[in-house]
Amino acid sequence: MPLPYVLLSAAVSLDGYLDDTGPDRLLLSGPADFERVDEVRASVDAILVGAGTLRADNPRLLVNSPERRAARVAAGLPEYPLKVTVSASGELDPGARFWHTGGAKAVYTTDEGAARLRRTGLTPATHPAVDVVPLGPELDWRLLLAHLHDVLGVRRLMVEGGGTIHTQLLQRQLADEVQLVLAPLFVGDPAAPRLFGPGSYQGGRLRLVETRAVGDVVLLRYEPTAPGAGGRTVPADRHWLRTACELALRCPPSATAFSVGAVVVAADGTELARGHSREAGDPVVHAEEAALAKIDPADPRLGGATVYSSLEPCARRASRPRPCARLILDAGVRRVVTAWREPDTFVEAADGAGLLAGAGAEVVVLPEYEAAAREPNRHLDPGLR
Ligand SMILES: NC(=O)c1ccc[n+]([C@@H]2O[C@H](COP(=O)([O-])OP(=O)(O)OC[C@H]3O[C@@H](n4cnc5c(N)ncnc54)[C@H](OP(=O)(O)O)[C@@H]3O)[C@@H](O)[C@H]2O)c1
Repeated sequence: MPLPYVLLSAAVSLDGYLDDTGPDRLLLSGPADFERVDEVRASVDAILVGAGTLRADNPRLLVNSPERRAARVAAGLPEYPLKVTVSASGELDPGARFWHTGGAKAVYTTDEGAARLRRTGLTPATHPAVDVVPLGPELDWRLLLAHLHDVLGVRRLMVEGGGTIHTQLLQRQLADEVQLVLAPLFVGDPAAPRLFGPGSYQGGRLRLVETRAVGDVVLLRYEPTAPGAGGRTVPADRHWLRTACELALRCPPSATAFSVGAVVVAADGTELARGHSREAGDPVVHAEEAALAKIDPADPRLGGATVYSSLEPCARRASRPRPCARLILDAGVRRVVTAWREPDTFVEAADGAGLLAGAGAEVVVLPEYEAAAREPNRHLDPGLR
């Protein structure tokens, strides 16, 4: 089920609060960061906030720069990104600025919430640019994101809070990226809203992808790292497979073997090892073999780990006694994510995925990375020459 790229964006005080408890919105960012946020808004298809933020801040959520809006129009996009809100209760003020500024809007709600919205005067007659989407008795985030993707054409979604929404998307492993701005001030009031609430998050560390000073605040960009489970893929699966494809670019070229990258990742997102074909001067070593050789076979994390390999692990090979699919199974790994099924270039009807699946492992193929996996193999691949 394809979902939009989900970018969580928030500003927090040094003590981790999103706001204070006063009647006005606390300004955490400075002018330079508001400019940056405007630029990010201009780059997405939709901006989402929770009903709590609509009620607390009455935001407009616009792209403010006329130049950025003109550039969107010149690129064939709507002048403003779609504005989206989420409310189970349907307790939303039909006079809020959200509805009466910018372009198209959508509200995802429950059946009960939709009925309440109609009663309170938010109807197609009064609000023609608003799509009210009831999702049943309660709201399912995957369904909501799939609807945004498939029906409303959203490929990049910026989520601007509040804490309840950010917490749910991160805990459900639906966020691709967190853009956090740390503001040099304190709130110090335990009744104020926090960015992330209690609950179950991924166990290990997120990956820091950027830090940037923006005026007196600091932007931190993180990517989640914990793999999905079974056949369910999450953004971290795509990040790790991209890493495997990048590793494949480091392989010494060969006319007789593929260039492949592989990463082994524990269930909590900790990288256990990585490898690539023919690394460290070994002319025949495969990527998965090189990575697994760096892990203690008794490491208890192997049982819950995922192997990311740019090319499907091999099922048969002449150079070593055990093919990579067998090495993976023998290591106890039961989940493999790959970008490219092995073509018949060297081995006819190689079916590493079949060997793995036949032994009870889950194999997930993400074809959107196939081109990246083929790239270092162009010289072997008649289809790409
Ligand atoms: N510093 C920043 O970057 C930043 C950004 C945004 C917001 N904020 C602050 O954050 C605070 C608001 O945060 P918040 O956590 O109270 O509110 P919120 O996250 O904006 O919205 C929570 C509301 O969204 C709806 N909702 C959430 N999950 C849902 C689900 N699974 N199904 C259906 N509806 C769901 C519910 O609406 P209903 O109650 O209508 O059912 C819920 O009350 C404000 O103080 C605001 O100023 C700060």
